[in-house]
Formats: sequence, C-alpha cells, structure tokens
Amino acid sequence: MNGRDLVRAVTEIGTARGRRAWRSAWRHRRTDAEGLARRGAERARVPGLLTGTEPRPGGGVLRFARSELLVRVTAGGAVFWGWDGAGPTPSYAVVGTGPEPDPRAVLEPDTGGGWRVVSERVTVAVSRHGQVEVRTPGGVVLRRERPPRWWEQVRPAPQGRAPVGARWLLRSEVQADARFFGLGGRASGPRLRDGVYRLWNTDPRGGFGPGDDPLYVTMPVQLVVADAGTHLAFYDDTWDGRVTLREGEEGAGSGPDRSGVSELRMDGGPLRCWVLVGTPARVLQGWSGLTGAAAVPPEWALGYQHARWGFGSAVEVRRVVDGYVSRGIALAAVHLDIDHYDGHRVFTVDRERFPDLPGLAKELRALPGGGVRLVSIVDPAVRVEPGEGVYGSGSAVGDAGAFVRDGRGREVRGEVWPGTCGYPDFTDPAVREWWGALYEERLANGFAGIWHDMNEPVSFAPLGDMTLPRSARHALEGAGGDHRAAHNVYALAMARAGYEGLVRLRPGERPFLFSRSGWAGMQRYGGTWSGDVETSWPGLRASLALVLGLGLCGVPYSGPDVGGFGGSPSPELYLRWLQLGSYLPLFRTHSAIWAGRREPWEFGAEVEGHARAALAERERLRPYFVTLAHLARRTGAPYVRPLWWGSPEERGLRDCEDAFLLGDALLVAPVLECGADRRAVRLPRGRWYDTVTETAYEGPGQVLLDAPLGRIPVLARAGAVIPVRAEDGSVGLEAWAPARGRTGGGLVVRDAGPGFEPGTVERYASRWAVGAPGVPGTPEADAVVVVEREGGAVVEGVRVRGV
Ligand code: GLC
Repeated sequence: MNGRDLVRAVTEIGTARGRRAWRSAWRHRRTDAEGLARRGAERARVPGLLTGTEPRPGGGVLRFARSELLVRVTAGGAVFWGWDGAGPTPSYAVVGTGPEPDPRAVLEPDTGGGWRVVSERVTVAVSRHGQVEVRTPGGVVLRRERPPRWWEQVRPAPQGRAPVGARWLLRSEVQADARFFGLGGRASGPRLRDGVYRLWNTDPRGGFGPGDDPLYVTMPVQLVVADAGTHLAFYDDTWDGRVTLREGEEGAGSGPDRSGVSELRMDGGPLRCWVLVGTPARVLQGWSGLTGAAAVPPEWALGYQHARWGFGSAVEVRRVVDGYVSRGIALAAVHLDIDHYDGHRVFTVDRERFPDLPGLAKELRALPGGGVRLVSIVDPAVRVEPGEGVYGSGSAVGDAGAFVRDGRGREVRGEVWPGTCGYPDFTDPAVREWWGALYEERLANGFAGIWHDMNEPVSFAPLGDMTLPRSARHALEGAGGDHRAAHNVYALAMARAGYEGLVRLRPGERPFLFSRSGWAGMQRYGGTWSGDVETSWPGLRASLALVLGLGLCGVPYSGPDVGGFGGSPSPELYLRWLQLGSYLPLFRTHSAIWAGRREPWEFGAEVEGHARAALAERERLRPYFVTLAHLARRTGAPYVRPLWWGSPEERGLRDCEDAFLLGDALLVAPVLECGADRRAVRLPRGRWYDTVTETAYEGPGQVLLDAPLGRIPVLARAGAVIPVRAEDGSVGLEAWAPARGRTGGGLVVRDAGPGFEPGTVERYASRWAVGAPGVPGTPEADAVVVVEREGGAVVEGVRVRGV
C-alpha cells in the first residue's frame, strides 16, 4: 500500500461506502483463503536435452527430456512456438485458429545438434537445450529466448481448492541497440525504459501520472525496434505476470555489446508466443491479421466530444450544448456518465433529472451541422436486487445465472457505484448474449454510442487489489477456470458482448464502443481511452504515451481525458491538452464530478479563441481521420505513429517521445511543457513544411519551431495529398508540394455511410509539371504541382501548398 492508498483508506472508513468496501475486501480475502491452495514446496524444471523431432506443417514438434516444443511458421511469416503442448488455440487474442502453416517451411537439422525452420522472411532456430532464436533471412538474431524454467508444486492442491499455477520464467535477449515499446497502455512510455511492468489490468485509484504502473490495459505484447529489424512478440497468456526490461548497451570501441533483455515471469498459464518480423507497417499488418481488424468508428466519433461526470440533469446537458452551438463550435457528441442512472444502476435512467432522454437525444441530433449524439457509460457491475431489474434477468440466465461465483458456488459480491453488486461472467457465451441484448434499452433511450468503464473489473477495496477474488470461477468459453486466468480478458469479453449485441440490434450500423480496460484483440470491438489521467503537465505527457503505445499494440482508436480527469487545469494546460487532443483519434474532454470545468469558454477569451482554432482545424481534418480509421482497419497501421514508423533505422527517432506522425502526411509536435513558446522538433528524412508558415525544412535533423499559445507545430510531408473538409462540408484535397524532382501522393478513403461498407481507396499522386507560362525569367515559374487520381486524370481544384 502506498501513502495515497493509506490516506484514502483512512478517510473512507467513515463513509457508508467505505465501510462496505472494507467488508467486501475482507470477504474477498476470505474467499481466496478458502478457495485457493497455498503456495507450497516447488520443483523447478527446464526442458532438458533434445531427444527427438517430428515434422508438422510449417515446422514441427521438438521433444526434450522434460518438455516439448511446437514450432510453426505461418504463411504470412508469423512464427508461433509453444511449450508443454501449448498450441495457438484456444486464445482470446487470436482470431479463428490463427494463420495457416507455411507449407514450404520445414524442420531441418541446424549446426550444433539443433534444428531450424527456414522461411522466406524469417528463420527459427532451436538449440538442443531449447533455446529459440528468431533470425532475419540474413542470419541476424532479432530475439533469443533462453530455455524456459517452470516451478511446479510438489504436492497436489487440497480437495476443493484451485491449485497454484505453474509459474514460469522466460528470458529473452534482443539487439544491443533495441528499444522496447508496447505492453498495452503505459503512462511512462512510449519508449519502455529499464524497469518492471506488471501484466494485470488495474484501476490506479483516482488518477495516475507517468509513475503509475500498471494501468487499465495491459498486454503481453512487445514491439522491439532495432537496426537489424523490427519485431513484435506476443506471449499469449492471460495470467498475472511481470516483465522486466533492460535496454542493451553497445560496446564502446572494441568492447562487446550488451544485449537488451526482457524477462517475463508469469504466475501460470500457457507458455507460448507469436513473433512477427518486418518493417513496423508489416509487423502491425501481421498483428491485425492475427488478432483481428480494428473496428472503424462511425464518422461522427472522429469529431470532438464532450463528457463530464456530473452533468446532473438534462437542463445542464442542454446548457453545455447550447454553449457550443451559440458559439458555432462543432460538437459531435455528449457523454452521459453514471449520474444519469437511477441510483447508479446500469441500464436505468434517473427520470427526475432526465425526464425524456429519447426526446433529448432527438432534439440534439436535429441540431445543425450533423447534430450532437449521446453516448452512454456502461459499467459491468450490477446492483444485487433479487428478482428485479438487470440483476433479476441475469439470475435467470442458464442454470446458474449470469454472475460470477466462487469455488463453493456462492455469487461473488463486490462494491461499486450502485452499492453491492454482482459481476456478469462475460467469458460465458450465454452471458454475453444476455448482456448484449440489454443494450436495446440504451438504444431506445436514444444513445448512439457506448463507453465501457470499471471493467478491470473494479470492486472498491481500501487495501489490496481492487478487483474480484482470484479464486472466483469463470466459464472461460467452457474450459472453466478462475479469475487468475479471466481477469485480464474480462473487459475484452465484455467488449465482445456489447459489440455483438449492438450489431444484432442495429445490423446496419457500426457500433461506437470504447472501453477502459481490455487486452490483445480489443480493437475488434472498438477503442479505449486514457482513464483517469491526472490533471498536470506530466499527465499530459502520459496521455500521449498511452495513445502511442496502444497503437503499437494494435489498438488504433484512443485518446485522453482532455484537461485531465480530476482537478482544474490552468488555462495554458487546458489549451495545450486540447491542442494535442485535436490530433488524436478519440478527441474528448472529460472530468470528474469534483473537477473544474472543461468547456473552451471557461478559460477566458484568449484561450477560447485559440481553442476554437484547434477545434476548427480538427473539423477541417475530419476526412483525413476517416481515411486513417479505414486504413487502420485495412492495414493495422495506427493513426498515431511514433516518428520512427517509416524509418526505424534512424536511431535518434526511437528516443523521440514528444512528437508523432498522424498517418503518413502530418507530424504533430505538441507542447508538453509549461511556459514554452517554441520547441525543438526532430524530423525524419525528407522535406517537411510548417503547415502555418509553409516554410520548408529538410530532415533528418532537428529544428526549433515557434509554438505560441495559439498553436502547436504541425508539419506536412512534402508531396502529401490529404482530404480536408471545406466550410460548406464538401471534401476536397490539399497537396503539399513535393521536393523538386520528386513525387508524392496519398490515399483517401471516404466513408460509405454508417454501415460496414469498407469504402473505396482512392490513390492520388502529386508531381511537378509544366504549367501555364508564369513570371518570365524564373525557371520555376512555369512549373506547377498537379495531383492525379490513379489512372491518370488530373484532379481540379486541389489546394496546393508549400510552393
Ligand atoms: C471512473 C472513470 C471515469 C468516470 C467515473 C465515474 O473513474 O474512469 O471516466 O467518470 O468512473 O463513472
């Protein structure tokens, strides 16, 4: 327990909720004391020596004295390996049965008594002690997995108690120059420095900054960038664990290099891994093929959204919306938090404060400029009310009801906003179906989108883990198991329930769903957001780290609580946050019930003016965001990418954490420091234009750019063609002049409507051409930039900039 927890525990003890939370924590403790076997004497095991092999499609099985290893290279080049009989399925992350084995990849003898599988893109080599190496076709080792080690209980678990998991440890080595990214949403990222990162989805209690770990979305997914190549490693194990990272060091002079090390210690679960190698774009494409294409949010969800815990009433919602409308500021959605529920109970409405929600929804939807949508929070915990409401209907699901039970068959209770609650077991398909149908009530109330919260899942506890007891039972798709295996995928399974329910209810519309917690594969159902990021400059920085890291784990749609969750940002901090947020996929202000306001006009006229400019630019770029959303689904590339995305070999870029690429075309350099009015911006190779001054800069290199309060530096790549929205709502093209003698281009995907139509990809090329005679005597005067649609036709009316 840290100091903050202690203070909280002591202050809460006086409240009714506090007392219930103490009791609940105590009950959970007792449940585990009765339900889990205690850790006893352990026996360590390593694979031992290789005793034989057996070919299989794409590789084979290697038998060792005390374990066996399945190695498979798939047709797309993804490598799978699993110890002790672990195969690619069942898996919460991998879609279907995973990619097909590569028929040309066969197991063959290697030097030193080992074996290898050679394929076009990657070679896997296994030593006779069980060390696994993933090498480039040129033979460079990208990742070396040392033989694993397991610790198993010597004595079996007593009757009726869940056995202690077989712990395992895996030490991996990467190139000395490698940098680590990923592991889900990490506040200290995006570059993951030396330290220990836990794999257990956690509500950090009331707010977090860069020093807090873990957070709501953890994933055993690492993206590793080195000169020799980029790779992604995914340890498909949902259990609690810890990753210890240590970056390598290159030997000075003729001294030896020290490898980078990742050490993974898991409390149980299968020891299996996928490795994808290639360029960053290729790796993410492979990852989305493996774990599923990202849901494309509806077009409106790429606009600016306003949330607040504590709107309190329909009157207040109208007042806030009016504030935007009367100032002519585009607003796409308003989010209603738990305070619109009746007694905080999910799938209810406080009819006194919100007497006619469907009417309100209709009225807002009819506002000019596309209208304002309503988005509803949905928490998983259901207040225990025998025979009534959601609890009553859940109790009637299947033979045992929808709620999680302990080893003795008693329903597990927890404390959340509505009081004493039960927790639907979303790892049970029948429960998902029941839950998904409940969204009909939300749709009937006029909501257009859903915001999943508290789904780590949280049960308030003054001390210890704020979640369910580890011995709580879960269906786990029929396999059966306990919370140790189900915890990290609870929110993922809830997202599936919600998403599939919404699709059943409105088959013609893409759902808008985002979730606080999740796991590998969550992008199939929607996005996520920062959660309760603290209102501070470090919080601002952390919110960018999260978006970047999640994108590299395959979750492209996310964004922070603009302004931070608690507290009151200074006008400057608020504005800088809004400016950053306006270039992130989920662009939403949100705040706690006790926090200060977040409306742009609450911070004085100067800030309001600058905020308007940022919001207007977001609107102008909305078609570009739509394009990026569709491309994320098609290619796995996140909208928001680290600067090294296109040139991972440029080492300086790997350490640059304060700027990002938005798609291929833009480079955004937010101001993350108080008082700054200029900042250094690192540029990848090529020519970049300041989008305001149109000054050209040549990369690679670093430039110092003005960043007055009114704007953050945004640069456009020379040659880029991007779709932009005109004042009248039509979509046009904007092109940035290629460097002389060069060409450029861009992709545009127009949204084909609210359904699942993929939209067509339009390809444009930009180049210099001889134009109408210009000012005589200047050699460049009769050259113009033209943009052509693939196939040849020159596009008229393109706004060309940077000439
Ligand atoms: C959690 C959420 C926050 C929400 C609050 C009340 O703290 O992270 O966004 O406002 O619960 O529902």
